[in-house]
Amino acid sequence: KEEKTLAIIKPDGVSSHYTNKIKAVILESGFAIVREKILQLDEGNATYFYSEHSGKSFFPRLITYMTSGPVCLMVLEKVNAVSDWRTLIGPTDARKAKVSHPTSIRAMCGVDLERNCVHGSDSRESAAREIAFFFGDINTGKGDRKH
Ligand code: CMP
Repeated sequence: KEEKTLAIIKPDGVSSHYTNKIKAVILESGFAIVREKILQLDEGNATYFYSEHSGKSFFPRLITYMTSGPVCLMVLEKVNAVSDWRTLIGPTDARKAKVSHPTSIRAMCGVDLERNCVHGSDSRESAAREIAFFFGDINTGKGDRKH
């Protein structure tokens, strides 16, 4: 079934000039990039986006990291996009990914558990919510709510 998912190239990925390489991998893997924008997150939208992690010890660092520079937001589309994008990016901890999944995007571009270079929605429900948050209702063309 055709699905959409949200991909984010995090600030470390953008500042280390991985954007074009990651986009090439995305296209070679059969995804279409149907929306794309560069955005500097602020504390407000980063906190909202990661609200499921708000009680965790790493949360303040995560917000500092995600607001440290611009991110590249992309809506990807293909059959089974949510799960296939999660497989392509690899495990959360980029250091472990380099051992267990050496061809994954996090192995190639990430640094460690925090600076793991890319985001992928974890379910179809999360994908719909995250895409609407950053891009509005892309099916009706009604504008973003937050930006
Ligand atoms: P992601 O899984 O995309 O979304 C939550 C992010 O929080 C995760 O990527 C990492 O960037 C970061 N993260 C998760 N766990 C930790 C941790 N234990 N310490 C620091 N950062 C973390």
